[in-house]
Amino acid sequence: MTTNRKMRLGLLSRNTGAHIASWLSPETQASAAGDLSYYIKMVQTAERGKFDFFFETDSPGIATDNMVTWSRNGFRHTKFEPLTLLSVLSASTTHLGLGGTMSTTFNEPYNVARAFASLDLITGGRGGWNVVTTANDYAARNFGLDKLPPHDERYERAYEFVEVVRKLWDTYEDDAFIWNRETSQYIDPDKFHPLEHDGKFFKVHGAIASMRSPQGQPVIFQAGASNAGRDFAAATADVVFGSARDLTKAQALYKDIKTRMLKFGRDPDDLKLLPGLSMVLADSAEEAEQRYQALQDLVHPDVMRQTLQEDLEMNLRDFPLDEPIPEDKLPEKANQHEAYFNYLTNLIRTEKPTLRQLFHHWSNRGRNVFCGTPKQAADLMEQFFTSEAADGFMISFQTMPQQLDLFVDTVIPDLQRRGLFRTEYEGKTLRENLGLKRPKNSYLK
Ligand SMILES: Cc1cc2nc3c(=O)[nH]c(=O)nc-3n(C[C@H](O)[C@H](O)[C@H](O)COP(=O)(O)O)c2cc1C
Repeated sequence: MTTNRKMRLGLLSRNTGAHIASWLSPETQASAAGDLSYYIKMVQTAERGKFDFFFETDSPGIATDNMVTWSRNGFRHTKFEPLTLLSVLSASTTHLGLGGTMSTTFNEPYNVARAFASLDLITGGRGGWNVVTTANDYAARNFGLDKLPPHDERYERAYEFVEVVRKLWDTYEDDAFIWNRETSQYIDPDKFHPLEHDGKFFKVHGAIASMRSPQGQPVIFQAGASNAGRDFAAATADVVFGSARDLTKAQALYKDIKTRMLKFGRDPDDLKLLPGLSMVLADSAEEAEQRYQALQDLVHPDVMRQTLQEDLEMNLRDFPLDEPIPEDKLPEKANQHEAYFNYLTNLIRTEKPTLRQLFHHWSNRGRNVFCGTPKQAADLMEQFFTSEAADGFMISFQTMPQQLDLFVDTVIPDLQRRGLFRTEYEGKTLRENLGLKRPKNSYLK
């Protein structure tokens, strides 16, 4: 490992903040999710802090039942479609990468390939696609199904999906567009490669109308936590979002993903693993803890039950808050977020928490919330980064946007002083800034 290795930082938006009750905090703008100017400010702050990229999550479905409970949730009800949003945000930034989610279960490869190829051109090579298989039945119901297809089948489809998308991105070679007025040739036909794909899930005989972008192909993000998900990430991803809970677990995940890459013939340096790190920053650790506790106290009991029942895939609607969750009522196996489900059911069996205790532990979905000073945040990041646990971090804040400003004004300069983070962007494209190779067109020998 070289000594000038630099940390990579992504910003996870979640408008008012990552905490489920952040929209209730007087520090946030409750209406932020529908306010473009709010997003523009956020990405400009991220770029001032030299973040590698801004990242927008998504799911193609929202709850339609149990609305008394869902009506209290600030994450679900309105959201800009990621590619539309990212295209607009590219006009207000010059170097920041712009990544967004699109599902492989509820799209066709052609649509995704075309949309991200356009995003990558519009942004001058700053686009990224977060490949997800989608884990909720509400999405299934928008697409003619009652339930999600089984977990492993979703991943099987995802492999083929990504293969087809990548091939479509290579429709034209880099120098296919010659615009030769003398010979009256717009493109060189020898450098055009229509796809002939006949697979288990997709038959695609065609091409997309899109030249390659300055970074060749958009960056591929992935966040699978299950066995199938980790293999998929190791086989296909440029950037992987981890959800490690402590240093030892983060090191184990880092080693696991980088080792899995070898079986797919990939160089471990070609993938950047970024564990999630969600924060509450304050002048003292005690104050940060208090701020976090104040947020926890804002959570409505209905929301506690709803959050847990979604990941446990069981009904907790009338369940008392201060009694342990009965083990004999737990479903046998997950069909949605396998890693979340396994973690929670194991905890219920071993530690027998009450519903309220389990919620307080899980309100950030198992990713520890860091509460502390800017210096302590930089210490923690340095420790993970220098002990083979992380190539950088997916940063989120429990409340936004002041916490992002504070991070950019305090933690970033500290990391720069320590020589761990860039002071200027290295390049123009997201791949250049992440230190990833530009992919060769697969039709070239
Ligand atoms: C930082 C991060 C961002 C994620 N963004 C999304 C998203 O936008 N949409 C989605 O459906 N899932 C998202 N996920 C969930 C993952 O895609 C994946 O389903 C989850 O980690 C469980 O892994 P598994 O599917 O292998 O069981 C995200 C996960 C992480 C850690």
